Order: sequence, then C-alpha cells, then structure tokens
Amino acid sequence: MSAINNYARLSFKQSTKSHFKYNSKLLASIALTASAGLLAYNYNNNRNNNNNNNNNNNNLFGKALFGLGASKAVDSENKFEANVRSANGQIENKEYYQKVYNAIAQKLIDVDDYDYGSYAPLLVRLAWHNSGSYDQNDNSELKGGSYAGTMRFKKEQADPENAGLVTGIEFLKSIKDEFPEISTGDLFTLSGVVGIQEMEGPKIAWRPGRKDLSTDYTPPYHRLPDASQTTGSYLRNVFHDRLGFNDEELVALIGVGHSIGRCHKQNSGFDGPWTFSPTVVSNQFFTLLLSEEWKFKKWDGKKQYEDEKTHSLMMLPADMALKTDSNLRKYVEIFAKDEEKCLNVFANAFSKLLERGIKFDTEKMYFKTLSEQED
Ligand code: HEM
Repeated sequence: MSAINNYARLSFKQSTKSHFKYNSKLLASIALTASAGLLAYNYNNNRNNNNNNNNNNNNLFGKALFGLGASKAVDSENKFEANVRSANGQIENKEYYQKVYNAIAQKLIDVDDYDYGSYAPLLVRLAWHNSGSYDQNDNSELKGGSYAGTMRFKKEQADPENAGLVTGIEFLKSIKDEFPEISTGDLFTLSGVVGIQEMEGPKIAWRPGRKDLSTDYTPPYHRLPDASQTTGSYLRNVFHDRLGFNDEELVALIGVGHSIGRCHKQNSGFDGPWTFSPTVVSNQFFTLLLSEEWKFKKWDGKKQYEDEKTHSLMMLPADMALKTDSNLRKYVEIFAKDEEKCLNVFANAFSKLLERGIKFDTEKMYFKTLSEQED
C-alpha cells in the first residue's frame, strides 16, 4: 500500500475523533500535498476490484419490507409539488435512527479496506445516485429518487452511471441485517448523511419514511449526469429542470461532492481524486479549481483534466463547466473564499436532494457524530 493510502487511512480514523476540524483539514492537506508526487497513478486499486458485471448481489435487500404503494399526488395545481409521494407511518423514533447512524459510522472506522481507508465518499455517492434519479417532470409512477429504494435491484445498479455503487450497497448489508425495519431508501440516504458528517462535514437534516417498492418503480437509465458534458446549460438541464435546484445549489452540490473520494477507471473510465484531502468534506475543490492550471491529461482513457503542478489531481469535463460558465463561476468564487457559506449551502441542498419527490409529514432530524457522543 502506498504512503498516501497509509496516510489517508490514518487521516480518516483521526478525523472521526478530531474536534479540531480546520486543523485536521490543514494537516490532511499538507501531508497529501507533500505526498503528491507519490499520488499520481499510484493508488492501490486492487481493493476496489468490484466486478460490476457480477450481479449475484441481485436482491441483496430483496427481502426488505415492501411498502403499501405510492401515494397519489395531492396538489394538482402545481405540477411539481404534485409529483411527489408521501412519506409517513414509519418509525418516527429519532433514537432508533441515531443507532443506525452510529452503526454505519462505527463500521466506517472498523472496515477500512477502500480508498484512503474510507467507504464514506462511496456512501455519499450512493445517496446522491439513489436520489438524483428523480425527475420532477415524470408524472408516471416511476419518478425515480430515493423513495422506493430501487437501487437495491440489479436493474438500477446496472445503469452505467451507477457502476461501482454495489460495493457501497454490500457495505451496508450488515447494517440492514441489524436494523431490518429501516427501508432501503432511508438507509441509503442516511448513509450519505453519515458519510458527510463523519468526514467533518456540516450537519445534514434528514427524515425517515421512504417505502420499498418493487422493481417496477426503477427509474429509466441515464438520468444521472454525464461527466463528459462540458456546458453550464447541460448541468442546468439536470439540476434545474429535472431536479429543481438553482445555480448556487448546483455548484455547491457538485463541488463539495467532489471534495471527497475519487474516480475509478474501472467504474467510470475516469481516474483520480479532485483534492488533496479526499476524506475531509471541504471547499477545497473550489480553491483548486481556481488556483491550479488544468490541462488535458495525456493518457489512453476518457478526456479529463489534471493539475499541471503535481499531475495528481483531476477534474471532469463537467466539473470544468463550473469555471467556464460565468454565472456558475460566480458561486465557485464565493465558495472558494467562504468555506462556511459553501458548506451551509451544500448542507441545505444535500438534504433537499435526499428528499426530492417526497412529501414528509415529519420533523427534520439531526444526528450527533460519533465524536460528539464521546463528549
Ligand atoms: C454533474 C454532476 C456530476 C457528475 C457528472 C459526476 C460524476 C462523477 C464521476 C464520473 C465519478 C467517478 C465514479 C467512479 O469512477 O467511481 C464521481 C464520483 C463521485 N461523485 Fe460525482 N458527479 C456529479 C455530481 C455529484 C454530486 C452532486 C455529488 C454529491 C453531492 C457527487 C459525489 C461524488 C462522490 C463522493 C464521488 C466519489 C465516490 C468514490 O470515491 O467512490 N457527485 N462523480
């Protein structure tokens, strides 16, 4: 295992105990910067050798409770508000969900055989893809989004945009076994909340009540964004028109989402991390996007950018649109300067993302991190 992986493993474990967010971020950043030479093309990807064609995980959660069905729209005046399912009638016990939170967070510490010693970024991506398939224009019963928990089915996992997520789903299997009452949609979205918060990110408001529906509710493929696209208008098609976000939320979601984790050639055809501290939620994506020179990477893979200085970081063509589109860039500049604002906007947008297409009749919940519970 490379030095960088050893460091990052330590970094994640320490970060879960750290009460000094900015210090540990700085340390992570410095150590990773120092190791940047080692970083390039030097990751141990063997651990992440999940074979996406191996679908014998089908119905991993197939025995999950099946809900009674989606509620019909109530408000026919407003097409978008009407196009939701109601979430209610499930366990509304915050203590129960804090226990589920803790079990996921503890497993993130105990099981560290993924990139940089942490499955947390993968859980965030799982929560995003589980929710980001929503289409507010879809008046059919499909709709997409996190409600129906259909990411547990091989059919949805086989969407090329979801390649690699099965590793995160397998990670959560023991949690589902321990807490069988939680619906798949609730579990996958809650795991994203855990991922963000345990990587020193902001508090994410969350609510339970999604219901597992059958594979008939699996959304169509290719709703999730194509990383090879290069324009702001493409991003707006996805984030405004389909998901109902504005420019500020769009920028926060993509940039903070890509402050953590990395691309894997075997999943997406892209390769490498965006930042020097991929297990700490930060605004680093924005500072690097502006401060570094980004050139096309010379390789036989998909068109992507790398930083000229260290050749160890990457940007997707779609990431670069945040810089080239003048209105999106406005927010990149604000977020690069003001991390608190950046993480605030992200926290609200991420919470909203997890609830796209769902009408809750319950209060939002906030969970304590493991380290807060030690105090
Ligand atoms: C235009 C929008 C987006 C595009 C095109 C995009 C594309 C991608 C791609 C191609 C990967 C690499 C997957 C792999 O090879 O394993 C990735 C990873 C990731 N994305 Fe995005 N993404 C977008 C938005 C988001 C958002 C909104 C979030 C969360 C809020 C997010 C969070 C992540 C995370 C955490 C990873 C790393 C996963 C890991 O380390 O295994 N992305 N994204």
